[in-house]
Amino acid sequence: MKFSLRSLNLFSRKNISIDYSNLPEHIAIIMDGNGRWAKKKKLPRSVGHRAGANTLKTITEFCDKIGIKVLTVYAFSTENWKRPKEEVDALMDLLLEYLRDAERQLAGKNVVIKVIGDISVLSKEIQEQIIKTEKLTQSNTGLLLNIAINYGGRNELVNAVKNIVKDINEGKISVDDINEQCISNYLYTRGIKDPDLIIRPSGELRLSNFLLWQSAYSEFWFSNIYWPDFKPKDLLNAIRDYQQRDRRFGGV
Ligand code: FPP
Repeated sequence: MKFSLRSLNLFSRKNISIDYSNLPEHIAIIMDGNGRWAKKKKLPRSVGHRAGANTLKTITEFCDKIGIKVLTVYAFSTENWKRPKEEVDALMDLLLEYLRDAERQLAGKNVVIKVIGDISVLSKEIQEQIIKTEKLTQSNTGLLLNIAINYGGRNELVNAVKNIVKDINEGKISVDDINEQCISNYLYTRGIKDPDLIIRPSGELRLSNFLLWQSAYSEFWFSNIYWPDFKPKDLLNAIRDYQQRDRRFGGV
């Protein structure tokens, strides 16, 4: 246990006490509600996304601090290209800025950053920055932060099927090698444990094409809070509820 009693008390504020020896290893978050948060304040949607990026920084640091191993966040879906160009451009600028600043933003935080999704259609500048940031943080030993960019669960499965067929045609694997583990190995999340807990703030109750394969036995936690307003105490609430669930994985 890497915490002093003092730091544990700090995280158990407002009587939200959780069991630090039974944390979800992998938390995934659909960072929803940026637009409505901005609208409520009569601000442009891009301001909501910027506020959302700040929340991401806070929650990433908090997860690392309390001992969460993996945090996967939905930053841009394969469907988000349907948004007005101005908003897509603002999101891409924000992503680039976040990746560029990652070293400074998370200084001393020991976070490993990885991007999941089809990055081949992103600008050359963003693709290069992704490679740079991943390289820069790859030997860190703390929290793994997976940022899903141009990610879609269905697209991920289509991609996996294509690569499996390609490897069969090239004689690298045979049809008999295909099983659940094999398919997992062809996903963007290969080698990463499936999410234990998926959080969606903002009042929407759907998965929106996020981690379709990986969420088979995830626990879900929903709340009405808009993502920019999401605080460490809300994460603690989600973890506390998660710890009260009876996970049977189809057994008894
Ligand atoms: C959904 O809220 C949010 C997104 C589509 C983008 C999420 C992006 C961020 C939190 C910031 C950028 C991320 C990084 C890694 C820097 P919405 O816009 O659909 O909100 P609404 O449903 O209220 O309109």
